[in-house]
Amino acid sequence: MTYAPEDVRTSCDCGGLLEVDLAIPPVTRELFDGRLGAVDHPLRSGVWRFRELMPNFPDDVIVSKPEGNTNLYNDQRLSDYAGTDVWFKHEGENPTGSFKDRGMTVGISHARWTNATMVACASTGNTSAAVAAYAATAGIPSVVFIPEGKISAAKLGQTIAYGTTIIQVRGDFDAAMTMVREATSRYGIYLLNSLNPFRLEGQKSIVLEALQQLHWQLPDWIVVPGGNLGNTSALGKALREALAAGLIESMPRIAVVQAAGAAPFYRAWQTRFAEYSPIAASTVASAIQIGDPVNYTKARRVVLDSEGTVTSVDDDAILAAKAMIDRVGIGCEPASAAGLAGIRRLISEGVIQQGERVLTYLTGNLLKDTEASADYYITNAGAQPVVIDPTLEALDRALANIL
Ligand code: F0G
Repeated sequence: MTYAPEDVRTSCDCGGLLEVDLAIPPVTRELFDGRLGAVDHPLRSGVWRFRELMPNFPDDVIVSKPEGNTNLYNDQRLSDYAGTDVWFKHEGENPTGSFKDRGMTVGISHARWTNATMVACASTGNTSAAVAAYAATAGIPSVVFIPEGKISAAKLGQTIAYGTTIIQVRGDFDAAMTMVREATSRYGIYLLNSLNPFRLEGQKSIVLEALQQLHWQLPDWIVVPGGNLGNTSALGKALREALAAGLIESMPRIAVVQAAGAAPFYRAWQTRFAEYSPIAASTVASAIQIGDPVNYTKARRVVLDSEGTVTSVDDDAILAAKAMIDRVGIGCEPASAAGLAGIRRLISEGVIQQGERVLTYLTGNLLKDTEASADYYITNAGAQPVVIDPTLEALDRALANIL
Protein backbone atom coordinates (compact mmCIF):
# COMPACT_ATOMS: atom_id res chain seq x y z
CA MET A 1 0.00 0.00 0.00
CA THR A 2 1.13 3.56 -0.72
CA TYR A 3 -0.02 6.65 1.15
CA ALA A 4 0.55 10.36 0.50
CA PRO A 5 3.02 12.15 2.82
CA GLU A 6 0.18 14.45 3.97
CA ASP A 7 -1.57 11.38 5.37
CA VAL A 8 -0.32 11.29 8.96
CA ARG A 9 -0.05 7.62 9.88
CA THR A 10 2.68 5.25 11.02
CA SER A 11 1.23 1.97 9.87
CA CYS A 12 -0.51 0.56 6.84
CA ASP A 13 -4.08 -0.76 6.96
CA CYS A 14 -2.47 -4.21 6.94
CA GLY A 15 -0.85 -3.37 10.31
CA GLY A 16 2.80 -3.21 9.15
CA LEU A 17 5.01 -0.15 9.57
CA LEU A 18 5.50 2.32 6.74
CA GLU A 19 8.68 3.37 4.97
CA VAL A 20 9.29 6.65 3.15
CA ASP A 21 9.61 6.01 -0.57
CA LEU A 22 11.91 8.72 -1.93
CA ALA A 23 12.41 9.72 -5.54
CA ILE A 24 16.17 10.28 -5.30
CA PRO A 25 17.64 12.52 -8.02
CA PRO A 26 21.18 11.85 -9.34
CA VAL A 27 23.68 12.63 -6.54
CA THR A 28 27.45 12.45 -6.14
CA ARG A 29 29.91 12.30 -3.28
CA GLU A 30 31.22 15.68 -4.46
CA LEU A 31 27.80 17.29 -4.07
CA PHE A 32 27.72 16.36 -0.37
CA ASP A 33 31.44 16.99 0.23
CA GLY A 34 31.03 20.48 -1.26
CA ARG A 35 28.53 21.31 1.49
CA LEU A 36 30.87 20.44 4.39
CA GLY A 37 31.33 23.56 6.49
CA ALA A 38 28.11 25.20 5.20
CA VAL A 39 26.97 27.97 7.53
CA ASP A 40 23.40 28.61 6.38
CA HIS A 41 20.09 26.93 7.18
CA PRO A 42 19.38 24.15 6.40
CA LEU A 43 22.50 22.76 4.69
CA ARG A 44 24.69 23.44 7.74
CA SER A 45 22.86 20.57 9.45
CA GLY A 46 24.51 17.15 9.20
CA VAL A 47 21.08 15.80 8.26
CA TRP A 48 19.95 18.35 5.67
CA ARG A 49 23.38 18.31 3.99
CA PHE A 50 22.01 15.10 2.46
CA ARG A 51 18.84 16.86 1.40
CA GLU A 52 18.35 14.86 -1.78
CA LEU A 53 18.23 11.71 0.36
CA MET A 54 15.70 13.24 2.77
CA PRO A 55 11.97 14.01 2.43
CA ASN A 56 11.45 17.23 0.55
CA PHE A 57 10.20 20.09 2.78
CA PRO A 58 10.51 23.83 2.08
CA ASP A 59 13.34 25.60 3.98
CA ASP A 60 10.95 27.55 6.18
CA VAL A 61 9.21 24.37 7.35
CA ILE A 62 12.43 22.65 8.40
CA VAL A 63 13.10 22.78 12.16
CA SER A 64 16.83 22.29 12.71
CA LYS A 65 18.99 23.08 15.74
CA PRO A 66 21.23 22.24 13.68
CA GLU A 67 22.06 18.60 14.42
CA GLY A 68 24.76 16.23 13.21
CA ASN A 69 28.31 17.24 12.32
CA THR A 70 29.46 14.96 15.11
CA ASN A 71 33.03 13.76 15.45
CA LEU A 72 34.45 10.44 14.34
CA TYR A 73 37.05 9.06 16.76
CA ASN A 74 39.70 6.43 16.39
CA ASP A 75 41.96 5.59 19.31
CA GLN A 76 44.62 2.89 19.30
CA ARG A 77 43.83 1.92 22.91
CA LEU A 78 40.21 1.21 22.01
CA SER A 79 41.18 -0.68 18.85
CA ASP A 80 43.54 -2.81 20.97
CA TYR A 81 40.70 -3.46 23.43
CA ALA A 82 38.33 -4.45 20.64
CA GLY A 83 40.90 -6.53 18.77
CA THR A 84 40.59 -4.64 15.49
CA ASP A 85 40.49 -1.11 14.06
CA VAL A 86 37.35 0.66 15.32
CA TRP A 87 35.89 4.07 14.43
CA PHE A 88 33.43 5.70 16.80
CA LYS A 89 30.78 8.07 15.46
CA HIS A 90 29.89 10.17 18.49
CA GLU A 91 26.19 10.87 18.33
CA GLY A 92 26.24 12.03 21.94
CA GLU A 93 27.61 15.29 20.53
CA ASN A 94 24.22 16.23 19.05
CA PRO A 95 22.33 19.24 20.48
CA THR A 96 20.30 17.29 23.07
CA GLY A 97 22.95 14.61 23.63
CA SER A 98 21.93 11.71 21.41
CA PHE A 99 21.39 10.51 17.85
CA LYS A 100 17.66 11.11 18.29
CA ASP A 101 18.10 14.71 17.16
CA ARG A 102 18.82 13.57 13.62
CA GLY A 103 15.50 11.79 13.37
CA MET A 104 13.71 14.52 15.25
CA THR A 105 14.55 17.31 12.82
CA VAL A 106 12.81 15.37 10.03
CA GLY A 107 9.93 14.14 12.22
CA ILE A 108 9.12 17.56 13.65
CA SER A 109 9.43 19.18 10.23
CA HIS A 110 6.86 16.70 8.93
CA ALA A 111 4.69 17.46 11.97
CA ARG A 112 4.88 21.16 11.20
CA TRP A 113 4.26 20.59 7.48
CA THR A 114 1.09 18.63 8.31
CA ASN A 115 -0.04 21.31 10.82
CA ALA A 116 0.22 19.05 13.88
CA THR A 117 -1.13 20.75 17.01
CA MET A 118 0.61 18.45 19.48
CA VAL A 119 3.41 15.87 19.33
CA ALA A 120 4.17 12.90 21.59
CA CYS A 121 6.55 10.03 22.25
CA ALA A 122 7.35 7.25 24.69
CA SER A 123 10.95 7.16 25.78
CA THR A 124 13.76 5.62 27.77
CA GLY A 125 15.18 9.18 28.07
CA ASN A 126 16.85 10.41 24.93
CA THR A 127 13.83 10.58 22.65
CA SER A 128 11.88 12.52 25.27
CA ALA A 129 14.61 15.17 25.53
CA ALA A 130 14.81 15.45 21.74
CA VAL A 131 11.03 15.70 21.33
CA ALA A 132 10.78 18.31 24.08
CA ALA A 133 13.59 20.42 22.59
CA TYR A 134 12.47 20.26 18.95
CA ALA A 135 8.81 20.82 19.85
CA ALA A 136 9.87 23.86 21.89
CA THR A 137 11.91 25.15 18.95
CA ALA A 138 8.94 24.68 16.61
CA GLY A 139 6.48 26.12 19.14
CA ILE A 140 4.35 22.97 19.14
CA PRO A 141 3.09 21.61 22.50
CA SER A 142 4.40 18.15 23.39
CA VAL A 143 3.69 15.29 25.76
CA VAL A 144 6.09 12.49 26.62
CA PHE A 145 5.40 9.10 28.22
CA ILE A 146 8.16 7.59 30.31
CA PRO A 147 8.39 4.46 32.45
CA GLU A 148 8.22 5.66 36.05
CA GLY A 149 11.57 5.46 37.85
CA LYS A 150 13.33 3.84 34.91
CA ILE A 151 14.95 6.76 33.14
CA SER A 152 18.08 8.67 34.00
CA ALA A 153 17.51 11.61 36.36
CA ALA A 154 19.66 13.80 34.12
CA LYS A 155 17.43 13.06 31.13
CA LEU A 156 14.27 13.68 33.12
CA GLY A 157 15.64 17.03 34.28
CA GLN A 158 16.61 17.98 30.74
CA THR A 159 13.19 17.04 29.36
CA ILE A 160 11.37 19.00 32.07
CA ALA A 161 13.57 22.02 31.37
CA TYR A 162 12.55 22.24 27.71
CA GLY A 163 8.94 22.57 28.85
CA THR A 164 6.81 19.57 28.03
CA THR A 165 4.08 17.57 29.71
CA ILE A 166 5.52 14.41 31.24
CA ILE A 167 3.32 11.40 31.91
CA GLN A 168 5.03 8.72 33.97
CA VAL A 169 3.61 5.28 33.34
CA ARG A 170 3.71 2.68 36.12
CA GLY A 171 5.35 0.00 34.04
CA ASP A 172 8.23 -0.44 31.64
CA PHE A 173 9.11 1.28 28.35
CA ASP A 174 6.96 -1.15 26.40
CA ALA A 175 3.94 -0.17 28.53
CA ALA A 176 4.71 3.52 27.91
CA MET A 177 4.90 2.73 24.19
CA THR A 178 1.45 1.12 24.29
CA MET A 179 0.08 4.18 26.09
CA VAL A 180 1.49 6.66 23.59
CA ARG A 181 0.15 4.65 20.65
CA GLU A 182 -3.29 4.75 22.25
CA ALA A 183 -3.01 8.45 23.03
CA THR A 184 -1.94 9.40 19.52
CA SER A 185 -4.60 7.34 17.76
CA ARG A 186 -7.42 8.38 20.12
CA TYR A 187 -6.63 12.09 20.15
CA GLY A 188 -4.96 12.73 16.81
CA ILE A 189 -1.62 13.65 18.41
CA TYR A 190 1.42 13.40 16.11
CA LEU A 191 3.63 10.42 17.12
CA LEU A 192 7.40 10.96 17.16
CA ASN A 193 8.70 7.50 18.07
CA SER A 194 10.74 5.53 15.55
CA LEU A 195 7.50 3.89 14.39
CA ASN A 196 7.30 7.15 12.48
CA PRO A 197 9.08 6.58 9.15
CA PHE A 198 10.15 10.25 8.92
CA ARG A 199 12.23 9.84 12.08
CA LEU A 200 14.17 7.04 10.42
CA GLU A 201 14.89 9.20 7.39
CA GLY A 202 16.87 11.63 9.53
CA GLN A 203 18.74 8.82 11.26
CA LYS A 204 20.02 7.65 7.90
CA SER A 205 22.40 10.60 7.97
CA ILE A 206 24.55 9.08 10.75
CA VAL A 207 26.14 6.58 8.42
CA LEU A 208 26.21 8.96 5.45
CA GLU A 209 28.14 11.51 7.48
CA ALA A 210 30.46 8.84 8.87
CA LEU A 211 31.21 7.60 5.34
CA GLN A 212 32.06 11.16 4.32
CA GLN A 213 34.44 11.40 7.26
CA LEU A 214 36.02 8.12 6.15
CA HIS A 215 36.52 9.58 2.65
CA TRP A 216 33.82 7.16 1.48
CA GLN A 217 36.03 4.16 2.31
CA LEU A 218 33.53 1.57 3.49
CA PRO A 219 34.17 -0.21 6.77
CA ASP A 220 33.78 -3.99 6.71
CA TRP A 221 31.30 -3.92 9.58
CA ILE A 222 28.93 -1.41 11.15
CA VAL A 223 27.98 -2.32 14.71
CA VAL A 224 25.07 -0.65 16.51
CA PRO A 225 23.41 -1.07 19.89
CA GLY A 226 19.81 -2.22 19.43
CA GLY A 227 16.76 -1.30 21.52
CA ASN A 228 13.65 -0.39 19.57
CA LEU A 229 15.74 -1.14 16.44
CA GLY A 230 14.98 2.16 14.70
CA ASN A 231 18.63 2.93 14.16
CA THR A 232 19.30 -0.49 12.68
CA SER A 233 16.39 0.00 10.28
CA ALA A 234 17.55 3.49 9.28
CA LEU A 235 21.11 2.29 8.76
CA GLY A 236 19.96 -0.44 6.39
CA LYS A 237 17.78 1.95 4.38
CA ALA A 238 20.60 4.49 4.14
CA LEU A 239 23.00 1.88 2.77
CA ARG A 240 20.46 0.46 0.31
CA GLU A 241 19.80 3.95 -1.03
CA ALA A 242 23.49 4.90 -1.12
CA LEU A 243 24.21 1.74 -3.08
CA ALA A 244 21.38 2.41 -5.56
CA ALA A 245 22.57 6.03 -5.96
CA GLY A 246 26.15 4.92 -6.65
CA LEU A 247 27.60 6.58 -3.53
CA ILE A 248 29.00 3.22 -2.37
CA GLU A 249 29.90 0.06 -4.27
CA SER A 250 28.98 -2.65 -1.78
CA MET A 251 27.15 -3.32 1.48
CA PRO A 252 29.10 -3.49 4.72
CA ARG A 253 27.92 -6.14 7.15
CA ILE A 254 25.76 -4.99 10.02
CA ALA A 255 25.88 -6.31 13.57
CA VAL A 256 23.30 -5.42 16.21
CA VAL A 257 24.27 -5.64 19.87
CA GLN A 258 21.70 -6.02 22.63
CA ALA A 259 22.08 -6.01 26.39
CA ALA A 260 21.79 -9.59 27.64
CA GLY A 261 18.84 -8.69 29.88
CA ALA A 262 17.02 -6.96 27.02
CA ALA A 263 17.71 -9.18 24.06
CA PRO A 264 14.52 -10.28 22.26
CA PHE A 265 16.13 -9.59 18.87
CA TYR A 266 19.19 -11.65 19.76
CA ARG A 267 16.99 -14.53 20.91
CA ALA A 268 15.06 -14.41 17.66
CA TRP A 269 18.36 -14.38 15.73
CA GLN A 270 19.38 -17.58 17.49
CA THR A 271 16.44 -19.24 15.69
CA ARG A 272 17.41 -17.30 12.52
CA PHE A 273 14.24 -15.28 13.08
CA ALA A 274 11.95 -18.31 12.92
CA GLU A 275 10.63 -17.42 16.37
CA TYR A 276 10.14 -14.12 18.13
CA SER A 277 8.70 -13.38 21.53
CA PRO A 278 8.74 -10.19 23.61
CA ILE A 279 10.42 -10.32 27.00
CA ALA A 280 10.48 -8.32 30.25
CA ALA A 281 13.69 -6.32 29.86
CA SER A 282 16.28 -5.47 32.52
CA THR A 283 19.70 -3.84 32.04
CA VAL A 284 21.89 -1.10 33.46
CA ALA A 285 21.87 0.44 29.97
CA SER A 286 18.54 2.21 30.47
CA ALA A 287 18.29 3.43 26.87
CA ILE A 288 18.00 -0.08 25.51
CA GLN A 289 15.88 -1.61 28.23
CA ILE A 290 13.22 -2.60 25.72
CA GLY A 291 11.49 -5.97 25.55
CA ASP A 292 9.33 -5.65 22.43
CA PRO A 293 11.08 -3.59 19.71
CA VAL A 294 8.63 -1.91 17.35
CA ASN A 295 11.01 -2.03 14.37
CA TYR A 296 11.65 -5.78 14.62
CA THR A 297 10.58 -6.61 11.06
CA LYS A 298 12.55 -3.81 9.39
CA ALA A 299 15.67 -4.62 11.41
CA ARG A 300 15.44 -8.32 10.62
CA ARG A 301 15.62 -7.49 6.92
CA VAL A 302 18.71 -5.33 7.52
CA VAL A 303 20.59 -8.12 9.29
CA LEU A 304 19.66 -10.71 6.68
CA ASP A 305 20.31 -8.48 3.64
CA SER A 306 23.75 -7.43 4.87
CA GLU A 307 24.79 -10.94 5.89
CA GLY A 308 25.03 -9.45 9.32
CA THR A 309 24.66 -10.80 12.81
CA VAL A 310 23.15 -10.13 16.22
CA THR A 311 24.89 -10.57 19.54
CA SER A 312 24.36 -9.75 23.20
CA VAL A 313 26.61 -8.58 26.01
CA ASP A 314 26.01 -8.57 29.75
CA ASP A 315 25.96 -5.47 31.92
CA ASP A 316 29.51 -6.05 33.21
CA ALA A 317 30.84 -6.17 29.64
CA ILE A 318 28.92 -2.99 28.81
CA LEU A 319 30.31 -1.11 31.81
CA ALA A 320 33.84 -2.38 31.19
CA ALA A 321 33.69 -1.17 27.58
CA LYS A 322 32.23 2.13 28.71
CA ALA A 323 35.12 2.54 31.17
CA MET A 324 37.56 2.13 28.27
CA ILE A 325 35.72 4.70 26.13
CA ASP A 326 35.51 7.12 29.06
CA ARG A 327 39.13 6.66 30.10
CA VAL A 328 40.53 7.71 26.73
CA GLY A 329 38.59 10.96 27.05
CA ILE A 330 35.78 10.23 24.60
CA GLY A 331 32.99 9.12 26.95
CA CYS A 332 29.48 7.84 26.30
CA GLU A 333 26.40 6.53 28.07
CA PRO A 334 26.20 2.81 28.94
CA ALA A 335 23.92 1.79 26.02
CA SER A 336 26.41 3.25 23.55
CA ALA A 337 29.23 1.13 24.93
CA ALA A 338 27.32 -2.02 24.02
CA GLY A 339 28.75 -1.52 20.53
CA LEU A 340 32.38 -1.86 21.65
CA ALA A 341 31.54 -4.73 24.01
CA GLY A 342 29.77 -6.46 21.11
CA ILE A 343 32.72 -5.99 18.76
CA ARG A 344 35.00 -7.53 21.36
CA ARG A 345 32.72 -10.54 21.66
CA LEU A 346 32.36 -10.95 17.89
CA ILE A 347 36.14 -10.78 17.46
CA SER A 348 36.67 -13.39 20.15
CA GLU A 349 34.19 -15.67 18.35
CA GLY A 350 35.85 -15.08 14.97
CA VAL A 351 32.70 -13.55 13.47
CA ILE A 352 34.52 -10.28 12.92
CA GLN A 353 38.09 -10.96 11.80
CA GLN A 354 41.08 -9.14 13.25
CA GLY A 355 42.13 -6.57 10.71
CA GLU A 356 38.59 -5.84 9.52
CA ARG A 357 37.61 -2.20 9.86
CA VAL A 358 34.63 -1.51 12.07
CA LEU A 359 32.42 1.55 12.51
CA THR A 360 30.24 1.84 15.60
CA TYR A 361 27.85 4.51 16.88
CA LEU A 362 28.25 6.09 20.29
CA THR A 363 24.55 6.80 20.51
CA GLY A 364 24.43 8.98 23.62
CA ASN A 365 26.30 11.36 25.89
CA LEU A 366 28.41 10.55 28.96
CA LEU A 367 26.20 12.77 31.11
CA LYS A 368 23.44 10.15 31.16
CA ASP A 369 23.06 7.26 33.63
CA THR A 370 25.79 8.86 35.71
CA GLU A 371 24.53 7.10 38.83
CA ALA A 372 25.30 3.68 37.32
CA SER A 373 28.72 4.69 36.08
CA ALA A 374 29.74 6.44 39.30
CA ASP A 375 28.84 3.28 41.22
CA TYR A 376 30.89 1.24 38.77
CA TYR A 377 33.98 3.45 39.02
CA ILE A 378 33.83 3.61 42.82
CA THR A 379 33.41 -0.16 43.15
CA ASN A 380 35.80 -1.29 40.43
CA ALA A 381 38.39 1.44 40.20
CA GLY A 382 38.43 2.94 43.70
CA ALA A 383 37.43 6.25 42.16
CA GLN A 384 35.76 7.61 45.30
CA PRO A 385 36.36 11.37 45.32
CA VAL A 386 38.41 12.52 48.36
CA VAL A 387 36.96 15.24 50.59
CA ILE A 388 39.45 17.45 52.42
CA ASP A 389 39.54 20.43 54.78
CA PRO A 390 41.07 23.54 53.20
CA THR A 391 44.44 23.08 55.01
CA LEU A 392 47.94 22.39 53.71
CA GLU A 393 48.24 19.22 55.82
CA ALA A 394 45.07 17.83 54.26
CA LEU A 395 46.33 18.81 50.81
CA ASP A 396 49.64 16.96 51.35
CA ARG A 397 47.82 13.87 52.54
CA ALA A 398 45.41 13.89 49.64
CA LEU A 399 48.18 14.18 47.06
CA ALA A 400 50.57 11.74 48.75
CA ASN A 401 49.04 8.76 46.99
CA ILE A 402 49.19 10.14 43.47
CA LEU A 403 52.51 12.04 43.41
N1 F0G B 1 21.40 4.10 22.38
C1 F0G B 1 20.78 5.10 22.98
C2 F0G B 1 21.60 6.09 23.72
C3 F0G B 1 19.37 5.23 22.91
O1 F0G B 1 18.77 6.24 23.51
C4 F0G B 1 18.63 4.25 22.22
C5 F0G B 1 17.18 4.31 22.15
C6 F0G B 1 19.35 3.22 21.60
C7 F0G B 1 20.71 3.17 21.69
C8 F0G B 1 18.66 2.17 20.81
O2 F0G B 1 18.31 2.65 19.57
O3 F0G B 1 15.90 2.09 19.63
O4 F0G B 1 17.00 2.77 17.53
O5 F0G B 1 17.50 0.56 18.56
N2 F0G B 1 16.50 5.08 22.89
C9 F0G B 1 15.05 5.29 22.79
C10 F0G B 1 14.60 6.48 23.62
C11 F0G B 1 14.21 4.10 22.86
O6 F0G B 1 13.45 6.51 24.03
O7 F0G B 1 15.39 7.38 23.81
P1 F0G B 1 17.12 1.97 18.76
